[in-house]
Amino acid sequence: MGMVAKNRFYAAFVLVAILSVQETSASSRFGPVISRLRKKSDPDVMPFAKEGGPLEVSLTLNIINIASVNPKRGEVEVLVWQAMSWRNPDLAWWPPDHMNVTSVRIHPKYLWTPDITIFNNARATEEVTPPIASVDSYGTVTLLPSLRIRVLCDLSDMTLNRLLDEQMAVCEIRMGSWTYGADILTLVEPQSENLGTSSYSQGSEFNLLDVRAKKNVFYYPCCDEPYEDLKFFFTFSRKRQVNTWSADGGLLHEKIRYG
Ligand SMILES: *[C@@H]1O[C@H](CO)[C@@H](O)[C@H](O)[C@H]1NC(C)=O
Repeated sequence: MGMVAKNRFYAAFVLVAILSVQETSASSRFGPVISRLRKKSDPDVMPFAKEGGPLEVSLTLNIINIASVNPKRGEVEVLVWQAMSWRNPDLAWWPPDHMNVTSVRIHPKYLWTPDITIFNNARATEEVTPPIASVDSYGTVTLLPSLRIRVLCDLSDMTLNRLLDEQMAVCEIRMGSWTYGADILTLVEPQSENLGTSSYSQGSEFNLLDVRAKKNVFYYPCCDEPYEDLKFFFTFSRKRQVNTWSADGGLLHEKIRYG
């Protein structure tokens, strides 16, 4: 072996050695907990609430941007951070027995996840972020996807409301379980301090004025059990200076006029 080849061989050996040390130390800390979760969790089996009641699923939304508003089609496109969490006691572990690991990240395909759906979707929702679930040692599972949502909203009044000399509208995002009744899965209404407008993009064409959530219970003619949904109401206005822009996406600019 020549000198250069020898050095290369040595460098490659050192690199492999470093990588394998990192690999070993990473897997020795989180690996056993993750393997255990994969073994214990059946994605088809819903967690059983210990108290015997329905499983509580917490659900909040943070609106990041109102990306587009189409009054003609009655559609609003919104970018949101959704936070969903519930507890599966079967997944819990005792950190002192597991290198003090208190939480891990795992692909949600290994876990049961609630079938939370947007009911007033105008088009399919896009998940913008990679799917990752966080599981803590109490068995609390949290999903925090970033979603591009298009909801149906009646915007025909938008031309008439002129409070603050800005066209305002109130739209809602209505979400709930697609298949479970409230006797099996119940939604936790978000605390008002977890809503709000602080994550909202300042550069947006629209002002986000208010966000609030309301839980509703209702019955279908078919069934005895109650069903639930959460409505997230958001109030927004179009920023005034937008009116002076040369319209490229046009509809809004043509449709909505001052005076
Ligand atoms: C776990 O934490 C305890 C208390 O802080 C500590 O005594 C112990 O050495 C830790 N174990 C490991 C494996 O780091």
